[in-house]
Amino acid sequence: MCGIVGYIGHREAYSIIIKGLHRLEYRGYDSAGISIYNNGIKVYKKAGKVSALEEFAKDLPVAGTIGMGHTRWATHGAPSDRNSHPHASNNRKLTIIHNGIIENYATIKETLLAKGHVFKSDTDTEVLIHLVEDIATATGIDLKEAVRIALNKVIGAYAIVIMSEDDPNLLIAARKGSPMVIGVGEGEYFIASDATPIVEYTKNVIYLNDNEIAYITREELLIKNIDNTVQTPYIQELDLKLEMLEKGGYDHFMLKEIYEQPRSIRDCLRGRIYPQQGNVQLGGIKEYADKLRNLDRIIIVACGTSWHAGLVGEYLIEEYARISVEVEYASEFRYRNPIITEKDLVIAISQSGETADTMAAIELAKEKGATIFGVCNVVGASIPRVTHAGVYTHAGPEIGVASTKAFTSQVTVLTLMAFYMAQQRGAITQSKLIEYLTELDAIPTLIEKALKTNDKIKEIAAKFKDSRNCLFLGRGSSFPVALEGALKLKEISYIHAEGYPAAEMKHGPIALIDAEMPVVFIATKHSSYEKVISNIQEVKARGGRVIAIVSEGDTTVKDMADYVIEIPQTGEAFVPLVATIPLQLLSYHIAVMRGCNVDQPRNLAKSVTVE
Ligand code: F6R
Repeated sequence: MCGIVGYIGHREAYSIIIKGLHRLEYRGYDSAGISIYNNGIKVYKKAGKVSALEEFAKDLPVAGTIGMGHTRWATHGAPSDRNSHPHASNNRKLTIIHNGIIENYATIKETLLAKGHVFKSDTDTEVLIHLVEDIATATGIDLKEAVRIALNKVIGAYAIVIMSEDDPNLLIAARKGSPMVIGVGEGEYFIASDATPIVEYTKNVIYLNDNEIAYITREELLIKNIDNTVQTPYIQELDLKLEMLEKGGYDHFMLKEIYEQPRSIRDCLRGRIYPQQGNVQLGGIKEYADKLRNLDRIIIVACGTSWHAGLVGEYLIEEYARISVEVEYASEFRYRNPIITEKDLVIAISQSGETADTMAAIELAKEKGATIFGVCNVVGASIPRVTHAGVYTHAGPEIGVASTKAFTSQVTVLTLMAFYMAQQRGAITQSKLIEYLTELDAIPTLIEKALKTNDKIKEIAAKFKDSRNCLFLGRGSSFPVALEGALKLKEISYIHAEGYPAAEMKHGPIALIDAEMPVVFIATKHSSYEKVISNIQEVKARGGRVIAIVSEGDTTVKDMADYVIEIPQTGEAFVPLVATIPLQLLSYHIAVMRGCNVDQPRNLAKSVTVE
């Protein structure tokens, strides 16, 4: 949430920053702003997207080789010009950009108001830069030390960058709970919330750790922790290619990412399954094989789409590894007093690896002594760094705000974990494992076939684009698929949608059904097929309109449903991976036909770093 870009070096900062802000726009798009040193600090900011800022700044002086920019997802203060970042200190000499929340800002603001500070915005961020100025003026210490002292006084999460009019060869960056990457070039440095704005300039990056402050000049990068001890930076090489960040001929990132799924799942499986030997290898968790053999309970924590993947994981782990699984919303888990012991394993699932609620749930479980595994997509993000072990999903950068390929790769990792645990615990025979892994290996090819339903789905989308409500129903592991289908539709098309276990329909949602109401069933030929058919009949009997995702060649459902979408037949364990594809396409086409901004739906942000 909120994107940060900074540059110091010998090139023109403006274009680097604007390009970087476009790349980070998925993190928030309520407003954008920039500070550039050009005979003093110039600050330009505008409500709306980065393009609105560009339009605003097009005839203004933007030359300069040091600057920083911000794209905002509003927390404190409405999305307006005045609440946009950067914010300035009382004497206007310091500017700051910030991602996160300063929780005790109100108390600090009160003290500063009493001292005569005048605030120009409603944000928590402005309070922090006034505090820095206040400390520097009151004590006469230099800016670097004033920032360190100020950060020791604030409670909350932050990634910040500060510029000073008095020193156009200094950027100060710091993080606690919000991500920050520093790109290291020749006589130049880049700062960003993730590596996407940096990749075309340098492959050498440093992921700043919590409670670290970086003092960056053109000649030198010095990192200290908040207690003033010098830290040795660890420079990593980026494994990111520029083409991964471009639309590659697709109209939207979301569509590109839907079509990338055969590739992303292959990447996720690579080197991890050996079907002919019936062997699963998960290097990231192998040190915990003993623990897995003696485990009684797993708790999965996640939010949103990742939580849906967790529900699929619950079915698979219970079915194949025979370990009891509970799936919790991270946001609820952290505010209960959950019973967790050293014997438990907690699996935290997160595409971004930055979700604040999931981070907090991990911390709570860690305090209680549990072992924590992460299932994350973004390499080097916060969650993989605080977990004991984990498995990356390797889906590649997901830019569309609505999660697609990240979901199927999370489900793939959880499928691998289920079989790995089953293998370690002797809960599965070798011949069964050979059979399942052979099927799993074929899933990318089946997804390629499922993607061929696109034209038919587009036709169906045209019929339902004006619906006001929609119900998604499935049973067993297709229930979380129904939840995910409903979430996708509501977040990108703004049509109200609900996902339910098909049998639960009779206990309430059936009241909604009429001739206007599309009901999407996942009705593939698996264990609850007959029961789902009964549920379809119940909907038809009440005049509802049924769209059914069925196994290839199915004629029974075809005779009942208004529309069927055939997907290749798979083993029951793998239905979620294939059945999800047409639901993603359905939401996508409906949203496009309704004129919605598919890649950046209103009010959402990709990486939710506030609670
Ligand atoms: C929906 C979506 C969100 C995220 C949720 C968790 O399409 O993307 O529901 O799944 O915000 O995010 P991560 O997985 O990054 O922890």
